[in-house]
Amino acid sequence: MSALAPLTLLRPLYLLSLSLAYIPPTILTHLLHPSQFRTLLSWSSFQDAWFGRFWAFFGPRSRENAAPTVEPLVRNTLSQLGHVAVKGGGEGKGKGKGNVILDLGPGNGQWLYLFANLPVGISKIYGVEPNRSHHASLRAAISRHNLDGVYEILPFGAQDLIGKNILAPESVDAIVTLQVLCSVPEPRDVVASLYPLLKKGGRWILYEHVRTKFTGDFVRLWQGKRAPLLPFFTTVVKRGEGELEGAGFGGKSLTGLWLTLFVTELINLVWPVCFGGCSITRPTDEWLLTAGEWSDVNLKPGEGEGKYDTIPHVLGTLVK
Ligand SMILES: C[S@@+](CC[C@H](N)C(=O)[O-])C[C@H]1O[C@@H](n2cnc3c(N)ncnc32)[C@H](O)[C@@H]1O
Repeated sequence: MSALAPLTLLRPLYLLSLSLAYIPPTILTHLLHPSQFRTLLSWSSFQDAWFGRFWAFFGPRSRENAAPTVEPLVRNTLSQLGHVAVKGGGEGKGKGKGNVILDLGPGNGQWLYLFANLPVGISKIYGVEPNRSHHASLRAAISRHNLDGVYEILPFGAQDLIGKNILAPESVDAIVTLQVLCSVPEPRDVVASLYPLLKKGGRWILYEHVRTKFTGDFVRLWQGKRAPLLPFFTTVVKRGEGELEGAGFGGKSLTGLWLTLFVTELINLVWPVCFGGCSITRPTDEWLLTAGEWSDVNLKPGEGEGKYDTIPHVLGTLVK
């Protein structure tokens, strides 16, 4: 591990500053275009536009970083799906009956190239993307990769998918989630509600950032479990530091606990605002594992990530 590795701990500060820097240009653009002014009058619309603008810059950088591991993972897994391409079919389009894919939170579509030129037939890809500020770029990516007529944008959140009755149980060959479950509200319930959509043998392909596994290190400051505030305060006030061990707060100094509490609460409060509802404290991989029965699980940590990574990833597949 490099001597500079601990500097990775500062990454959340860098990302927060970067996101905040996109507020003025977002406001300015919408002020200058009278037709878009209304976006400024609604907090959620503004937040979508702000994140859309930030992701247009940051998304490609994030993809470049992840592509060496994510690209083979997604393409190899999709290439093993059941249906074979119909001869003479174009890229994605016109392949007749084939696989159905659910692509959650595709954003501006920068991973869409993964669905192009696959050796298996794809009859339908549903891209569940609630942030309409991504849709123009997403539509451009659909055309660029010749997925018109195959890739359909569903303009609502994954949590609303089941209620829309678009997909029958056991009708989906693959669910793809690339850096999405961090932003979905009630992710544990959403994951459990989507599991029945997968066919037997269907794959959940993921690349998600998750809560760190390194519990004893400084990294926990950024993204520890939500601190149990009330028990902590009552223990400190009523019983003093000496009693912390017995009350389940052992192994840390009082200063350390205060610091953990402060940073964790701050990050849980500020981070979702700056990143379209994203959280860096979710054990998404654990929720997926318990969403239902899997016949095969192949998950691993992000390449080169370790105890200083504040936004560590898990990638791989779960086969139903
Ligand atoms: C960090 S971005 C990642 C975008 C894309 N997957 C990528 O890697 O470039 C998170 C994406 O999840 C989408 N998202 C947020 N809430 C969602 C929800 N409830 N259902 C589906 N997608 C959601 C956001 O709009 C955004 O496009």
